[in-house]
Amino acid sequence: MSVSRRNFIKGVIAGGAVASSGAYLFRGNAPLFGQTSAPGSVERLITLRINGQARRVDVMKQETLAMTLRYKLGLTGTKLGCDRAECGACTVLVDDVPHYSCSVLTHTIRGRSVVTIEGLASPDGTLHPVQQAVVDEQGFQCAFCMPGFVMAAVGFFKTEPNPTREQLAHGISGNLCRCQDYDKILTSLMRGGEYLRNA
Ligand code: FES
Repeated sequence: MSVSRRNFIKGVIAGGAVASSGAYLFRGNAPLFGQTSAPGSVERLITLRINGQARRVDVMKQETLAMTLRYKLGLTGTKLGCDRAECGACTVLVDDVPHYSCSVLTHTIRGRSVVTIEGLASPDGTLHPVQQAVVDEQGFQCAFCMPGFVMAAVGFFKTEPNPTREQLAHGISGNLCRCQDYDKILTSLMRGGEYLRNA
């Protein structure tokens, strides 16, 4: 009965704060210290097929493909712009279809083939026709978005090898350029299609 209302409230707040921080610490430490996953959760050590190679990698269940590519496999040609499926900078091919790698969970692509911008050129260093066209046309300004555009175009050409300029513009409309040099980008990618047809 000697506990004042003020002291009672202070005690509750302090106790709640300790409980909350404890819960936060335990949640936060699990992935950092590599504790084994809870029963029923996804396997962490998985094999991915990236640019024709089998890559063994430890992934967290909430990890995106963009994170795995850039920060675990060193494939930094895949760029992260918005990280929420809006800009297309992170585009890679999964089984020949363009995907935003920032919005694909890595563990969902086991057994599927991933191609990044690093996987387009031939082993002897010869650029992919679309890459060569970008070089020849100097189609980008800052070029941060360029790998995503190239991957989107390469994927599009697999379904429509001889598009009109309008069709290609529609096909790569999921990619954004902050420099807004879309006309030159389209010109260079159209030339890429031409190089591909003549390859
Ligand atoms: Fe993935 Fe923008 S970084 S869509």
